[in-house]
Amino acid sequence: MVKIAFYTITGQTQQFIDKTGLDAHRIEDANPQYQMNDKYILILPSYQDFMMDSVVDFLTYKDNKKIF
Ligand SMILES: Cc1cc2nc3c(=O)[nH]c(=O)nc-3n(C[C@H](O)[C@H](O)[C@H](O)COP(=O)(O)O)c2cc1C
Repeated sequence: MVKIAFYTITGQTQQFIDKTGLDAHRIEDANPQYQMNDKYILILPSYQDFMMDSVVDFLTYKDNKKIF
């Protein structure tokens, strides 16, 4: 099954993920560096770039940017 990673600030994306019932990795501000290993779908809300630093940290960690 395809993996999912997501980011949320106010919880809307978390609610969407919960409704799908799918297993997903939440990108955490406290520790965004997490290795996905397999191909994955990245689900993001729209924010200005300076609010997405954790997503950048996640994407630039290991091979995460190459495999999504
Ligand atoms: C402080 C704040 C800034 C936002 N900035 C943008 C934006 O720049 N562009 C946009 O399309 N939506 C923007 N939104 C709307 C969010 O993308 C939208 O509310 C989204 O559902 C929030 O997802 P989340 O609850 O998973 O964080 C903003 C929302 C908030 C609360």
